[in-house]
Amino acid sequence: NQAPVIAIDGPSGAGKGTVSQLVAEKLGWHLLDSGALYRLLALAVSHHGMSVEDADTLKVLAEHLDIQFKQSEDSKVEIVLEGEIVTQAIRTEEVGHSASKLAAIPEVREGLLLRQRAFAQAPGLVADGRDMGTVVFPNAPIKIFLTASAEERAQRRLLQLQQKGEAVNLEELVQSIKERDERDANRAIAPLVPAAGALVIDSTNLSIEEVVEIVFAETVKAG
Ligand code: C5P
Repeated sequence: NQAPVIAIDGPSGAGKGTVSQLVAEKLGWHLLDSGALYRLLALAVSHHGMSVEDADTLKVLAEHLDIQFKQSEDSKVEIVLEGEIVTQAIRTEEVGHSASKLAAIPEVREGLLLRQRAFAQAPGLVADGRDMGTVVFPNAPIKIFLTASAEERAQRRLLQLQQKGEAVNLEELVQSIKERDERDANRAIAPLVPAAGALVIDSTNLSIEEVVEIVFAETVKAG
């Protein structure tokens, strides 16, 4: 599969999701929100009351889980898990937390690997995650590592959660973000690190538009 890939990795809250979506729209390319796959798996495990101890069963579930990304008329994407719309349900802190625990299990990552690669279709793919440039698309011509300070990321997350009416405390959020970073960066398999040759962008003091411009310029440069 020769479709070009823009791999955008980084910690949660760095703006990857929004940036990836805008870059994909601007180029007319496909989008892979790989974090959503881990979140969907976490939700399915909880729905089915499954044990997270049985790694082989988790792998089978990861490979075969019934997931659809449905484009609605207003070009919004609805995420469907086993027939149920879960676009909002997968975005809670709780699901994110469970997802990050599942993501440390090698069998889970293996189970999702080929599903992720299948998203690389013409004319191109913008892939958002933690290991897009290191593991899933190591040959991606464009690799970005997007980060921001934990405090700035907590602040952004706080706004998002408040807009959804979720009550959260900033201090707790900073703590939870640091915990998740720690687990993602230190796990034995596919830890969150910049890929070799990745352009590292610190978005702490940049707007979304500025980041999109940098990624776009990098893409043009790569031809
Ligand atoms: O990006 P998002 O917060 O939706 O991802 C949820 C969790 O899934 C992350 O905290 C991380 O542990 C895991 N993940 C991963 N590899 C990816 C994408 C997400 O390990 N490529």
